[in-house]
Amino acid sequence: MSHTPNSPHARDIAAHLHPYTNLAVHPEVGPHILTRGEGIYVYDDEGKKFIEGMSGLWCASLGFSEKRLVKAATKQLETLPFYHNFAHKAVEPAIELADYLVRHAPVPMSKVFFTNSGSEANDTQVKLVWYYNNILGRPEKKKIIARHGAYHGVTVAAASLTGLQYAQNGFDLPIKNILHTDCPHFYKYGAEGESEEQYATRLADNLEQLIQSEGPDTIAAFIAEPFLGAGGVIMPPKGYFEKIQPILETHDILFIVDEVISGFYRTGDMFGTQTYNLKPDLITLAKQLSAAYQPIGAVMVSEKIHDVLVEGSRKYGLFGTGFTYSGHPVPAAVALETQKIYDDRNIGAHVKAVSVTFQRRLHGLKDHPLVGETRGLGLIGAVELVADKSARQNFDPGHKVGAFVTGKAMEEGLILRPLANDSVAFCPPLIITEAQINDMFDAFARALDETAGYVAGL
Ligand SMILES: Cc1ncc(COP(=O)(O)O)c(C=O)c1O
Repeated sequence: MSHTPNSPHARDIAAHLHPYTNLAVHPEVGPHILTRGEGIYVYDDEGKKFIEGMSGLWCASLGFSEKRLVKAATKQLETLPFYHNFAHKAVEPAIELADYLVRHAPVPMSKVFFTNSGSEANDTQVKLVWYYNNILGRPEKKKIIARHGAYHGVTVAAASLTGLQYAQNGFDLPIKNILHTDCPHFYKYGAEGESEEQYATRLADNLEQLIQSEGPDTIAAFIAEPFLGAGGVIMPPKGYFEKIQPILETHDILFIVDEVISGFYRTGDMFGTQTYNLKPDLITLAKQLSAAYQPIGAVMVSEKIHDVLVEGSRKYGLFGTGFTYSGHPVPAAVALETQKIYDDRNIGAHVKAVSVTFQRRLHGLKDHPLVGETRGLGLIGAVELVADKSARQNFDPGHKVGAFVTGKAMEEGLILRPLANDSVAFCPPLIITEAQINDMFDAFARALDETAGYVAGL
């Protein structure tokens, strides 16, 4: 494709190294430039309007024109645009946000450490877990178990936890001391005749075996999203966490729950931890923490962890980690206002109410000849497209069926995201109405029918 010289498109291709983009084809396809937003809609530079069916990257929970967040940022920028939180300094928005999060934590938590992103937060989790065991005099207890299909971010440690090949290809990852156990996807990996509960038992047994073969004294932590997000929006099989958690307790293995997508009402509950009755020692937050209007992530630590960190300072003096922008006052003020909006509008009740229509429309796609599985909870879901429904067989990845259907959806004015195995995710802003949910699934149904034509010609 040729672009007018010096156009934004040409300059993007010339100067911008894009994250998570096929760099070899980018000069051909060029950028799709979004210029403004209104509610759940975004508009591109040609004025075309789209429903943002993914809240951007699972994050713009309040849509794209929330004036209260603009005001909160502006007020903070005019008052104190930056100050740090190192060496006993503090800024008020960070104090208030930490206090709010501790008071609303899904299980008792002691302190909040701020980062700029989910990746940095998970990177920090790895450091905290290692530090914790060093201070406890258990230098061999360092391995962290994640799951195949998990997404935990892109820093060197977070990408190592991520169990998706594309985040590791060519990067010399994973680093040592990171292990992966089963992806908990019953539809894909459940054996013939096996019930969901039996499958969950098998995965718990596999985890126990992995721990035994590595040596329980070498395993420091287990990290899990309440449901897998970027790995395909995969809800755990029935009984999964009930079987996993006692194993962690038996072997004194810390439980890190990554709430980066599930946190802040995506399931209708404030946290996925509540939805699945989890008992984390550490929690990772980002994305909907600030409705994505400002970059901010966080690690929440329990008293048990914090006590050991304090011991560490008795040994080393400084707790030697922190980002220049940890607790930056502007994102912290925006995150705090985001929480107030969630409370004022009772967003959890709204999600629970409209998710009935969302889930009905989502699962209504199950009868379509291309749809193998529909899965979802609250205002998140996915459909998995398959070549053979009875054999649960995916298409040849080379046919890019998932990318085809999301391309058609785009033509229908709907932005969605293809994930692994031709799964297509839905994760709209939490403010979406029932009428808009219907518009979204109507547009997707049209795209799906067009895809059926494409598939028939393969
Ligand atoms: C569950 C989960 N953890 C961590 C991350 C990484 O967050 P970030 O992209 O803000 O670094 C993501 C991003 O999608 C995520 O979905």
